[in-house]
Amino acid sequence: MNQNARYDTVSQILHWATAVVVTIAFILGPERFGRLMHQGVDPATRSDIVWHESLGMLVLALTLFRLVWLALRPAPPQIQMAGWMRLAARLAHVALWALLVALPVTAVLALGGEDHPLTLLGGLRVDHMPAIAESTIAGLADWGEVHQLLGDAIMWLAGLHAVAALAHHLVLKDGVLIAMLPWTKPR
Ligand code: HEM
Ligand code: HEM
Repeated sequence: MNQNARYDTVSQILHWATAVVVTIAFILGPERFGRLMHQGVDPATRSDIVWHESLGMLVLALTLFRLVWLALRPAPPQIQMAGWMRLAARLAHVALWALLVALPVTAVLALGGEDHPLTLLGGLRVDHMPAIAESTIAGLADWGEVHQLLGDAIMWLAGLHAVAALAHHLVLKDGVLIAMLPWTKPR
């Protein structure tokens, strides 16, 4: 068996855990979320907001752990494919990594910049983030708007990325999808 036919188990588990948690956080991105907070609703009273923020912070923790693992893990599989396809996959992965970091960062900038509390499961909350509120970066954009746009962008890009993975499996039959699946035999 080719040793490099699949990603290592840690990378596989972290990939699928991230995909599930991002999707649930997106679904729980409550409509008019920003407006509710501007109206003075305490986010701790809304379980959808508390779950959204907690799952979003979990995505950040998973992503930071994954980025460290990227430097330590066994070499990822090198599956034969056209140069343009390899480049497109590389660009999509880089964009997904960037979005996974940018989503929590823009959310914290939005909350801290407007002095809204960060509310997490277990009653954890951070009411004020003075370092962010007083920083120039907080005033550079409407970070809530940016966060919302990036939230939509990651779902579109992840959707395209999933379609590409299925096309590799069903049309090209080249083992790309299987490389990320923990329970199948490599080709
Ligand atoms: C994978 C991570 C995340 C995704 C995909 C995501 C997605 C979204 C989406 C789509 C919205 C817009 C909801 C609407 O109004 O229709 C939203 C709003 C929001 N999210 Fe997230 N989010 C993520 C992580 C986080 C984290 C970590 C936090 C908190 C630390 C957070 C806090 C917020 C806040 C405060 C808003 C309202 C923004 C505003 O309009 O001012 N999100 N999110
Ligand atoms: C929010 C959802 C998703 C995100 C954020 C995401 C992100 C990523 C990232 C960052 C990588 C590079 C992983 C690494 O080097 O360890 C990757 C690889 C991969 N993903 Fe996803 N993914 C998502 C959903 C999916 C789905 C739904 C599928 C399949 C239906 C899928 C299939 C794959 C495959 C096959 C690879 C390996 C690709 C290759 O080696 O070129 N992903 N994904």
